[in-house]
This record gives sequence, structure tokens and C-alpha cells, in this order.
Amino acid sequence: MSMHKLSPYQRASCILLGLETVHPEHDVISKVRFTMESLSAETIQRDKCVEDFFNLLKVTKDYPITPFLEKMVFTKTGPDLLQATLKVMDYLTYDPSFKNLQLLLGQLDSTVIDDEKFEKLLINFLMKKSEDEGFGFCTELVSVLLEKNPFIQIKKILEFCHDLYQDDQLRLLKKSYEHFVTIGSEAPFFAFLYQHLTLRIFNDIKVVLLGEQKNLLVDAFSKGQVKSKLWLVSELSKLNNSGLKNALVLCGWVGLLPHLLFKAGFQEIISVDFDESCQSIALRLNKLETDMGRFNAVTEDIFNLNYKQLRLLQSQHDSAQIMDCVDLLINTSCEHIEAFDEWYAKIPEGQLVVLQSNDFFDCDQHVNCVNSLADFREQTPMGERLFSGALPLENYTRFMVIGYK
Ligand SMILES: C[S@@+](CC[C@H](N)C(=O)[O-])C[C@H]1O[C@@H](n2cnc3c(N)ncnc32)[C@H](O)[C@@H]1O
Repeated sequence: MSMHKLSPYQRASCILLGLETVHPEHDVISKVRFTMESLSAETIQRDKCVEDFFNLLKVTKDYPITPFLEKMVFTKTGPDLLQATLKVMDYLTYDPSFKNLQLLLGQLDSTVIDDEKFEKLLINFLMKKSEDEGFGFCTELVSVLLEKNPFIQIKKILEFCHDLYQDDQLRLLKKSYEHFVTIGSEAPFFAFLYQHLTLRIFNDIKVVLLGEQKNLLVDAFSKGQVKSKLWLVSELSKLNNSGLKNALVLCGWVGLLPHLLFKAGFQEIISVDFDESCQSIALRLNKLETDMGRFNAVTEDIFNLNYKQLRLLQSQHDSAQIMDCVDLLINTSCEHIEAFDEWYAKIPEGQLVVLQSNDFFDCDQHVNCVNSLADFREQTPMGERLFSGALPLENYTRFMVIGYK
């Protein structure tokens, strides 16, 4: 299945599925996805859309008003509509007049009044209740009933429910809907994820939706990995790095770090990894910059690079990309480098570097873990050290050093 054949809604839906897989703890994602799915049809069927919405509402929480509202919205014939509306009002007010009216209505012969008339009567009745008896919600109910646009109707129902229950989940749902009413393309959708779900990373993992190399991605976007990279970007920004324009990211994996670095203001980045399956993902994750010629992912062994002439970063497999000089050299996978000293010796003195390693000895591929920050500092002698620190994560500790070699 190719991405470009999908509609923006379908794409967004797939993306959410991906997000859900990667961040199962953020249950709002599954709710938003569910919502999206209900809106995904190119030709939106009003009933289906609203029906799905109510299902979503039920899944979210057992709000007692939901079945009444649902009935009110879906009921087709006049008397039934009034019955349902009265039930809603009964529920909301405990006013005995509504119960009495319901009883009366049950005795009415529905065939004698046509539905249109009934609807008018109902609206008048509600408006009168609102004015005479201060049942302000009646105006909102009218507005819900009369709304023809399913998106806006849902939005109004959410507003109604939120006012009623003041529930945080409803607030989130409301927010998502406010957004969905206005989205027309993928871009604002991601902006929405970015702003409202507050995980910056959401904007970066569109690639998950393709379903390829899912395990690789789940690992690359695991909390520990993401935190470690955000830590790197954050510590780097604390140093006076305004002169840093480009970076060479070694063992760059799927290109997450470059993406974050671009966001932090870097202009040009090359990522190098000898696993060829990483390249296509890294290019997609950094598509914008790739298209602008500011990013490249190269398949190469970092031992094969000529660090003295890094400006000509030739690769066997890729066309060369030229950097005038490398402002910053990054390797966050030092735990993966067996002959570490041999590799480190290749880096010219005076080169600004950021290096990360960890003490996660249990992974087979970790052939160069260190026990402590002190050990990592010893492994990475520097002319001038700008930063060194440890970040405790769930299963291990990440170590980082920054400085001029
Ligand atoms: C599991 S990942 C990265 C883990 C690390 N904590 C990080 O996120 O930066 C390690 C990556 O290093 C790459 N790698 C290991 N040795 C390499 C080498 N000699 N040259 C290029 N890439 C290498 C692997 O292909 C893999 O994609």
C-alpha cells in the first residue's frame, strides 16, 4: 500500500495506528484514531459518522447522558424525537413536568401530527423552557438538534457533555474535534498532534504508518531512545552553539536525531549507518530536509570514513554529499562499537564531538558498554570537555560527553 494513494484522512488514521503502537500509554491516541476512523470515508455518511462518535463517547467513559443524547439525535419521527428530548431534560433537571409530558406523549396518536410540525413544536417548547424557566441547556439542545453538519453536531454534543461533566477526557476529545472540523490536509493534522499531544516526537514518526520494519521503529522510538536524544539536543543548546550549522551523525539509525537537530536549527546533516535498511526510513523521516538537499542518509561503515577529509564524504553506495567542514560529529551508539579505541583514534584532534554510551550490558549488540560515566570519560579523552553527564532511564543509564577531542 503506497502512501500517496491514501487520502489525508486515511493517512492520518494510519499514522495514529502507528502512534498507538509506539505509545500505548497515551490512550488519547487510540481515541483520536477511533474518531478519525469514523471520519475517514471520502464521502462522509452523516449517520455513520455520528453513530461512530457515540460509540467513541461510550468507550471513553460511561457518561449517563450519552444514550439519551444518542436517541435524541437519531430519532426520526416527531413524537419519538420529543420523547427522547424529554428524557434528556428529565435526566438533566429532575423537573416532574418532563415526566408528565412524557406520559402524555405516550398516549398521543403519532399519526395525527406530521413530523415537521412536531419538530417545530419541540423547538418552540425547548426555547420557551430556556427563556421562561432558565433551562439554558435547552438552547444548546435545539442547536444540537438542528445542526446539519455532522462534524459540528458532534462538536456541539461534546461541548454540551463537557459543560455537564467537566471531564478532562471530554476536554481532550473536544479539542480533537475542534481540530478535525478545521483540518483539510495532513499538515495541520500533524501540527495538531504536535501541539496538543505535547510529545514533540509525534511529528516525527509518520513513517511508522507504513508498517515496514515496525519492530525497528518501535525500538528506535522507545522512551529511552527518545529521551536520550532529547537530552542531547537540550544539553547541546545550553552550550554556545550558534555557530554550529552542520552535523555528521554516525550510526545514525533511523534518523530520529537528525530530525530533532533540524528542529533545533541545524542546516545540514548527514547520517551514516552500515545497516542499509535504515537509509530509506531516515530519508523519509527527514523528507522535508532531504527534498531541500539538506539531509542525506548514507549506508557506510563508520570505520571506512576518512575523518581527516570529512568534507568529502564519499560512499560506495551513495552519491557524495559535500560538507565544507564538519561542525559537529555525533555518535550516540558508542556501546555498539567493538574496536572503539581504533575508531576514536581516527577522529582528528580539535573536532567537536557529542558521544553517548550506556550500561545496558544485556543486549547482544552492545559490545562496548561502560559501567559508569567515569569509565566513559576515560574511554573518550578530550582536549576540552564541555559537558559530561548521566541520564537514568527505565532499564539502563545513558552517558554523554561533549567536547573538543
Ligand atoms: C541500535 S542503533 C542505535 C542505538 C543508540 N543508542 C542510538 O540510538 O543512537 C545502533 C546503530 O549503529 C549502527 N552501527 C553499528 N556499528 C556501525 C558501524 N561500524 N558503522 C555504521 N553503523 C554502525 C547499527 O547499524 C545501528 O543502526
